[in-house]
Amino acid sequence: MLFKIIPATLRDLNALRTLEDICFPEDAWSLFDLVAVLTFPGVIRLKSVKNGKMVGFIAGDPRPSQGFSWIATFGVLPDYRRQGIGRELLHRCEEQLSTPRVRLSVRLSNKNAIQLYRQEGYQTIDIWEKYYKDGSDAVLMEKSRIE
Ligand SMILES: CC(C)(COP(=O)(O)OP(=O)(O)OC[C@H]1O[C@@H](n2cnc3c(N)ncnc32)[C@H](O)[C@@H]1OP(=O)(O)O)[C@@H](O)C(=O)NCCC(=O)NCCS
Repeated sequence: MLFKIIPATLRDLNALRTLEDICFPEDAWSLFDLVAVLTFPGVIRLKSVKNGKMVGFIAGDPRPSQGFSWIATFGVLPDYRRQGIGRELLHRCEEQLSTPRVRLSVRLSNKNAIQLYRQEGYQTIDIWEKYYKDGSDAVLMEKSRIE
């Protein structure tokens, strides 16, 4: 494998900010949210690194009292997509989330991500109409890991 996946830290703030702006031009997180995801206790935060550069990031937020975790943010830089980095990030994050279910929300129009999630066992459990700032709908997806 030509990329590695390792924990991200606050030292990755600038790289994460760049990645978020590129991956989510309409919904990029605020600086506060990025600092939070890199520092809040219990959050799983992983980066994929190629040639010393952060090229992908995922964060999983466990909510054991609710029985599920949230995939909070997940992106790979455009030049590094379709190489399996996204799927590997998702696998590695899921491995570290011990809740019986994992949830995420995704733009209804984001067919590529939805295809990946379906392949990975996520099912649509709800549609949130006009969830995003621009009025787009969100799909709420869930993966159950109960045997
Ligand atoms: C979604 C995203 C993280 C996938 O990252 P990636 O590294 O390209 O993912 P992978 O290479 O592991 O691809 C996994 C699967 O996703 C689907 N997929 C990803 N990009 C696709 C594309 N351009 N066209 C069709 N299917 C695609 C395919 O099913 C693919 O499997 P395959 O290559 O075996 O056909 C990346 O496209 C991205 O950052 N998008 C912008 C941000 C985003 O949408 N994040 C998710 C929001 S919830």
